[in-house]
Amino acid sequence: MDFELKTLNSKGPQGGRADAVIMPVPEGWQAGGDAVSGLAAQAHGHGDLPTKPGKVLQMYRPEGPGPRRMVFVGAGQGTAREVRQAVAAALSAIKSPDMRVLALHLGGLKDVGEAVVRATMLAVSDVSYTYTATKSRPQPRALRAVEIWVPDPTALRNGVARAAALVGGMELAREWANRPGNHATPRMLAKAAKDLAGSNGISCEVLDEKAIRRLGMGSFLAVAQGSAQPPRFIILKYKGAAASQAPVVLVGKGITFDTGGISIKPAPEMDEMKFDMGGAASVLGVFAALAKARPAVNVVGLIPTCENMPDGLAVKPGDVVTSMSGQTIEILNTDAEGRLILCDALTYASRFKPAAVVDIATLTGACVIALGAVRSGLFSPDDALAGALAAAGESALDPCWRMPLDDDYAEGLKTNFADVANVAGRAGGSVTAAKFLQRFATGYPWAHLDIAGTAWKSGAAKGATGRPVALLFEYLCSLEAQPSVKAQPRRSAGRAR
Ligand code: BES
Ligand code: MN
Ligand code: ZN
Repeated sequence: MDFELKTLNSKGPQGGRADAVIMPVPEGWQAGGDAVSGLAAQAHGHGDLPTKPGKVLQMYRPEGPGPRRMVFVGAGQGTAREVRQAVAAALSAIKSPDMRVLALHLGGLKDVGEAVVRATMLAVSDVSYTYTATKSRPQPRALRAVEIWVPDPTALRNGVARAAALVGGMELAREWANRPGNHATPRMLAKAAKDLAGSNGISCEVLDEKAIRRLGMGSFLAVAQGSAQPPRFIILKYKGAAASQAPVVLVGKGITFDTGGISIKPAPEMDEMKFDMGGAASVLGVFAALAKARPAVNVVGLIPTCENMPDGLAVKPGDVVTSMSGQTIEILNTDAEGRLILCDALTYASRFKPAAVVDIATLTGACVIALGAVRSGLFSPDDALAGALAAAGESALDPCWRMPLDDDYAEGLKTNFADVANVAGRAGGSVTAAKFLQRFATGYPWAHLDIAGTAWKSGAAKGATGRPVALLFEYLCSLEAQPSVKAQPRRSAGRAR
């Protein structure tokens, strides 16, 4: 799907090749000089032009040549959020398999900045993305081109290019998260990562079970040992800045299916645990976006990936394992497996002397209870990092909410049989999970995003959302201009390790 900026002249999309045109209409709308605006002015004159967010007025073959379908859709105050909602509603109303070219007429909006244009692009992607990978008769999306008609395209060129990169990354993340467990195994995820490495500025290394063992990742391997599918540890690198610039490390939970292991989950909705690699998928998506947009930052992506299965060889409640950090862990509940694979990746992350490490995980049902599907959970002891991620979430329309990390929350992780237990009680479950991770995230600024509620939708609209690719990409792009993301002092070259 291509996005094209178009200059809104007197003809506008009416003179073009679009099959349909969508025009968001804010409160206090004022007619422009083009044909579509002329029609809207007539509707306005009769009080028929909707401005309430998401309300639509649809037309078929209005006078003259041009698009068959036309939709005016209310956009409230014209904020990015409202415009996204408006375009999504309008496109849902007219979505048809033969729509190849869609025109977005943004001339009625007062402030057509980068944020608003990106919002329209995200809405089109959101509604038009079609999952086909495991259908016998795939009906892929026909939409090839999206024309974005604005009075002055010049100032928006860079923004649209970045947003197009983001859209591609989000769709890749959705695609991998949507694929069922037998079509998205650890080895398949590794292949997807390797495929990305062909593109601009990206390299990829994949560690197999033997190499993971050599690193001493006993916690990660304990989760993997119950599965016939071998685990993989994926290392992606994006180099957009000088090597002296310390990278941001993204760590994505890659449980390709979570049965719970011996602490097995109940049957209802267990299928949704194919989405338990949503964190990993978001890392892949971010790298796809980076390769296209090429911002001047360095980023490392780490993906520990395996299945969590019950088996004769599976790890058992009460087993004690030794993590890469040397800390021993009593696995009281094998369903708390995400933290067990992440902790070793967090230890591994320190070798990059990172400017920051952000892990992304569908980690706890408790986070879904706390924040629902609206905001991801943000946990960080670092105010600056938390602030930057929260701000990125707001501006990318991919919001998160900071949660506490008081040490008192770690009390329940104490055990008589190891350095730490992998679960505390039911209370504050998303926080105690974060407290577990925090023990391993030492020596660098760290944040954890619990995306259990935001990575996918349940019910009739079941499917991956591509979150939080937008938040992460926005955060990484925001670092570009900041000279403060310098490498931490390195040990002198000659010193023995
Ligand atoms: N992948 C799940 C978390 C999850 C559950 C996400 C439901 C979205 C919906 C995770 O591995 C898990 O099972 N967590 C347990 C932790 C508990 C055993 C402490 C949970 O949340 O129940
Ligand atoms: Mn689990
Ligand atoms: Zn899980």
